[in-house]
Parts: sequence; structure tokens; C-alpha cells
Amino acid sequence: MKNNHQNTAFNVQEIRKDFPILNRKINGKPLVYFDNAATSQTPQQVIDVIVNYYSNYNANIHRGVHQLSQEATDKYEEARQIIQQHFNAKHAHEIIFTSGTTHSINLVAYGFGDLLQKNDVILVSALEHHSNIVPWQMLCEKTGALLKVIPMTQEGELNMDEFDILLQLNPKLVFVNHISNALGTINPIKEIIGKAHKVGAAVLIDGAQACPHIKSDVQALDVDFYVTSAHKMCGPTGVGMLYAKEEWLKKLPPYQGGGEMISEVTFDKTTYADLPHKFEAGTPNICGGIAFGATINYMNSIGFEHIAAYEHELLQYANEKLQTIDGLKIYGTSNNKTSVISFNIDGVHAYDLGTIIDKLGIAIRTGQHCAQPIMDFYGISGTARASFAFYNTKEEIDLLVTALKKAQMMLS
Ligand code: ALA
Repeated sequence: MKNNHQNTAFNVQEIRKDFPILNRKINGKPLVYFDNAATSQTPQQVIDVIVNYYSNYNANIHRGVHQLSQEATDKYEEARQIIQQHFNAKHAHEIIFTSGTTHSINLVAYGFGDLLQKNDVILVSALEHHSNIVPWQMLCEKTGALLKVIPMTQEGELNMDEFDILLQLNPKLVFVNHISNALGTINPIKEIIGKAHKVGAAVLIDGAQACPHIKSDVQALDVDFYVTSAHKMCGPTGVGMLYAKEEWLKKLPPYQGGGEMISEVTFDKTTYADLPHKFEAGTPNICGGIAFGATINYMNSIGFEHIAAYEHELLQYANEKLQTIDGLKIYGTSNNKTSVISFNIDGVHAYDLGTIIDKLGIAIRTGQHCAQPIMDFYGISGTARASFAFYNTKEEIDLLVTALKKAQMMLS
């Protein structure tokens, strides 16, 4: 097994060899995995890191004088630096390990409970995942702040004229995803951040769907908060990160109390640890954090420019091929989108479609994709969604199209 793909041309067949799961058969057919927006698959290089951790240096971190603890601590902090460099954060302590995007958003929303007042306006976009809606609704209930929505267009883009109008309300916070999980739209986050800052609003970007496709530079974006999960980019589940500018991390109160996040504890008073530990109570997902660093190294060894170019090819190919199916309608038709296709076929329920093609070995997601407001906007109960990764192929897309035609015949 090669350690990485540095300095080699993009070769999908070579890359596929890194992913043992792609050899699986499902219902006697080769697995075609098109549910990458839900979770992506893990290469052997990252699996090896996980096995090595539990085989050789599993120990609690920042606590032990013994060698295993020090090795685990070093690797964990090394991973934080890999993440820092990847996202170009100014300081390693601006990277907070969390259990994932949802945890990261809740941490920030909880913190703003102390900073917002009744009738303060906060802006969310119509394209959000529930995890970037519900924590803010909870915050509004607690503080009396008002949640306003940046509307979307039929193409599945944000209505930027309406955004400009909403900015006149002087919002305190704006939270938008980088890429819509349900439609694949890439939002103009640089423009959103710049405009929000002009009226004094802080901005949180949900980067969960962007991290497998785009290398984001938090300093160039000048974003206040950027959050993501490792499992969307070939890492393990249960680990992710919150990037926040140092000034915000100093301002926000801790989210959870416990060991590791304290400086001193007496029954009269507790003082909190320095960053990043102030936000990392309890024993973290140590192995997950280390594997998060490893998956970033793996993805960078392939190169995000190669990944983006290849996935764009897959998207165009799939768009063309899917249009050959009578009655198929694609939701989310922005010119600026990533390799996610949400669709329905006339007269066929998405769930039935997903169930039948699973019998043919093809994994897609069906339903609302944790984004009910988008489904309500289109007046539908859900969609079928195929989401492609850099290890997928055009041949697999052909199999999807054939399977969908077969399912359509059976169901209509
Ligand atoms: N957010 C994940 C998805 O879009 C679970 O499927």
C-alpha cells in the first residue's frame, strides 16, 4: 500500500485500491457507493492509523507522565497542527476538536446565549441542514433574539438581493453552509462574509459538505467560525472541528464543564484552562482526532485541485446521463455546484427507488436529507440523492442510470 499519492497523476483506479470497502458485494453485486454526502469511505492509510493507535499507544492525553500518554498527546496535538495548516488558521489553539459539525454549531450557539439580547436579529439561510437551524432556534427561545431567513431561488441558490435587504436589520450573526448537503450548491461565502462584516455581524460557515471538495482558507475568507466533520472527508465518524478566531474563543463561555477544561477547581470557584482546552472538557475522541489529521494528509496527497476537477467531470457526466431518463427532475441547478444530484422521477417515490437500486448494489440517500425547509420550498416530500466522491467512476454512474430505468419500469 502506497502511503500517499504525492507527485502522481490522478488515477481513479489506483485511488480505488486504497478503499477496501469498494471491493464489497451488496446483494451479490459490486458496491456502487453514491451516499458520500452522508458519510464518505475511509482509505487503508487512515484505517492503519486507527489500528496503530489502538495497537501501540492508546492512552489518555495531557494527563500522564508515562510514555504512552505522551506519545498519544504528541500525535493528537500534531493532528491539531495538520488541521490548522490545512485550513490556514493563524493559531493551532483556534482549532477546537469536537464530535462533529453539529457539536461545533451547538457550542457556538450556546456561547452566544450570553452575548445576544432580546430582539437582536440573526440570519440563517433557506439552504441549511437542520443542524444549522435548530441550535439557533433554541438560542432565540433562550434570548428572545429573532431568526430571519435568507430566501432561496428555484435554482437552489441564495437570493443575494434579499440578503442585502436583510442586512439592513443589522444582524449580530449570520450562519450559512458553504455547500448545501441537499442540493450541492456552492454558496458565495466570501461575499456573504464581507457584506456581513460591513454591518458588524459575525459569520459561521458550516463547512461539512465543503471539506471533501474544497480546501478552505479561513484567514483569506476572514470567517469568524468555520465548522466541519472528519467523516465527510474520508475520516472516522464522531470527530470534527470548530475553527474560531481567537478573539471569539476568548469571548465565548465554555460549552461543557469537566476535566481538562479547567485551570483550578475549588468549591468556591473554578478558573478555566487556556485555549483550546477551555472548550475540550472530558476525554476526547483521541484516536479520531489523530485519524482526522491523517485523512487531511491523505486528501492533500491526492490534491484538492485534482479532486475538484475530477468530481466536476463526474457531475457533468451524471447530469447528462440522468437527463436520458423520462420524467426525471433535478433539484438544485446552480452552475456553481459540487458533485451532488438530488432528483425525483415522476410517479415514483424516492424511497422505493432507493430500496430497489440497493438490491442492485447501489447506495444513494432518499428523503429530506435533514433539510425539510428545502423540500417544503419545492413542495415535495423528499428526493433521491446521488453524491459522488473522487473514488467513484463514470462506469458506476452508468450502472446507476441503468438501475434507475429498471426501477422506473417496475414502479410505474
Ligand atoms: N448531513 C448528512 C447528509 O446530508 C447526514 O446526508
